Amino acid sequence: MPLNKKDLLEIQELSSDDIKLIIDTAVSFKEVTGRDIKKVPTLRGKTVVNLFYEPSTRTRTSFELAAKRMSADVINIAVSTSSVVKGETLLDTARNIEAMRSDIIVIRHSAAGAPYILAKGLKSSVINAGDGCHEHPTQALLDMFTIREKKGRLDGLTVAIVGDITHSRVARSNIYGLTKMGAKVKVIGPATLIPLEVERLGVDVHYNLNEGIKDADVVIMLRVQLERQGKTYFPDIREYSMQYCLTKERLRFAKEDAIVMHPGPVNWGVEISPELSEDKSTVILEQVTNGVAVRMAVMYLLSGEKATAS
Ligand code: CP
Repeated sequence: MPLNKKDLLEIQELSSDDIKLIIDTAVSFKEVTGRDIKKVPTLRGKTVVNLFYEPSTRTRTSFELAAKRMSADVINIAVSTSSVVKGETLLDTARNIEAMRSDIIVIRHSAAGAPYILAKGLKSSVINAGDGCHEHPTQALLDMFTIREKKGRLDGLTVAIVGDITHSRVARSNIYGLTKMGAKVKVIGPATLIPLEVERLGVDVHYNLNEGIKDADVVIMLRVQLERQGKTYFPDIREYSMQYCLTKERLRFAKEDAIVMHPGPVNWGVEISPELSEDKSTVILEQVTNGVAVRMAVMYLLSGEKATAS
């Protein structure tokens, strides 16, 4: 069954079958990333361009590795040394890149909707690597892959998402994805960081961490995104961590075999206590490992029948 899409812009537009297809395909690619020689000819002759207008460690690196492991050529545009600083628009920048025959453009931008502008204006496949506070679809896909790998399923699980829900594109993509896949989702945080009417997305809202994570199978902790907050949403960072930092003691409210996730970068001691960094419940680095396989699957599926996995 093909994905039948030119672009990956958001989880909201994917069906549960699409999500399952991507996760199932990523399972095969994870096997490739575990080999001594981690390379297949799947995207040989294709060109992938990383166009990141915002900082990134995990997403940009894993898209580059994913493309290289499928034998594509990869170009990383450093926006700070490109003609963007001379005032070139987003679409002009992308059109000029496409004129050099790109096949896939991966974009991260601070403006929600920026990937849509490119998808409409370009023939290349466009992948959203995070747009403002809107969505981060490949992060949610790698999170769902990791949960399914650890728990064997998504359907029927209880997933608690804790922190700055308002500014988190990761939370939004995970809420769309996990609810489509049959998980029960709870969001937990200070009232000032929970969007109004978020319940309409099919989630339960809690303001107390211990109550919110009660009996959860999965606890996803979010980064406090000080750079996206135009004003202060809580008195100070210590006040926040006293109420919402996940400690070993607080984790006891979740199921005994609950896993702890975080999209990174982690502010240790603010969102998660350092004592949990080496704990068997914490799967943050496994999420990063899985990100490469999931991004290989996404690029392979968007390339359609032109690509051959092996
Ligand atoms: N999870 C994530 O998007 O991390 P980066 O900002 O490092 O890409």
